[in-house]
Amino acid sequence: MAEKPTVYVTRRIPEAGLALIRDTCRMRLWEGELPPPKEVLLQEVADCDGLLCLLTDPIDAEVIGAGVRLRVISQMAVGVDNIDLRAATARGIPVGHTPGVLTEATADFTFALLMAAARRIPEGVDYVRAGKWQTWEPMGLLGVDVWGATLGIVGLGRIGAAVARRARGFAMRVLYYDPNRRPDLETELGAEYAELEDLLASSDFVSLHCPLTSQTYHLIGEVELRRMKPTAILINAARGPVVDPDALVRALSEGWIRAAALDVTEPEPIPPDHPLVSLPNCIVVPHIASATVATRERMAAMAAENLLAGLRGERLPYCANPEVYQRES
Ligand code: DGY
Repeated sequence: MAEKPTVYVTRRIPEAGLALIRDTCRMRLWEGELPPPKEVLLQEVADCDGLLCLLTDPIDAEVIGAGVRLRVISQMAVGVDNIDLRAATARGIPVGHTPGVLTEATADFTFALLMAAARRIPEGVDYVRAGKWQTWEPMGLLGVDVWGATLGIVGLGRIGAAVARRARGFAMRVLYYDPNRRPDLETELGAEYAELEDLLASSDFVSLHCPLTSQTYHLIGEVELRRMKPTAILINAARGPVVDPDALVRALSEGWIRAAALDVTEPEPIPPDHPLVSLPNCIVVPHIASATVATRERMAAMAAENLLAGLRGERLPYCANPEVYQRES
């Protein structure tokens, strides 16, 4: 009987994924609550055929190089900016990821952030908890209307489009900016293409849904924040470094924009004494947009399926570096 492949899983993930792996592999699991330290990762990958990792694990060229037997890397996330894809491709290692299964949960959560910031829900909760609620206040905690407002979506991929679908239910005008124009979605969703600077100047809400790449690093900085309306709200459920955090602190403190709601930050996790955490017009939550029971189960199963396909020498169902297959042929 052929020997079972050895795989390293960098955190306890839902059983829906672990059970699939345990069945056919010799699985080693990092049980810590925090990511494994780099030296552990380097040591663990040394004799592994497969690696299942999370977005908090820096899978750089050194780690990939240390995995001399690695045949597949599978990440339980759609974004793979923590993985050196070029190094993986150069070694002929396919990298799996989990697109699609988290789209609706992430779009729901984006809307939750948008609504929470527009209607100042966290401030209301704090107000009641602090015992400040004495009467109905005609001028208290006034927010802004969502119904009929203009939403600017930066990055009209799966999640951006799912957010646009929700916006239609709120009678919003939807603008989008994306390096690839999407006439199909313009028709389906009534979304209007705009250059980034026009989108920023015209939107009441700006929601970011682009991947983190060298082109999108600090895409939203001082110039872009100053272009936004002073009444506008910025939502980031993409990746923290898409926004320059120092510029955002100034924008929120000096009133260039009204508020921000962030599921992701730079750095991540954000230190509790960071100004963005204490500003009353900024909501920060700990990267939980895909955090529903069902979604995380689907992500874990999909990550396991990618891993197992790679170990069997099959094409990964969801591969983030498909060029690895062209390289082989
Ligand atoms: C992802 O999948 O990239 C999200 O950020 C976490 O679900």
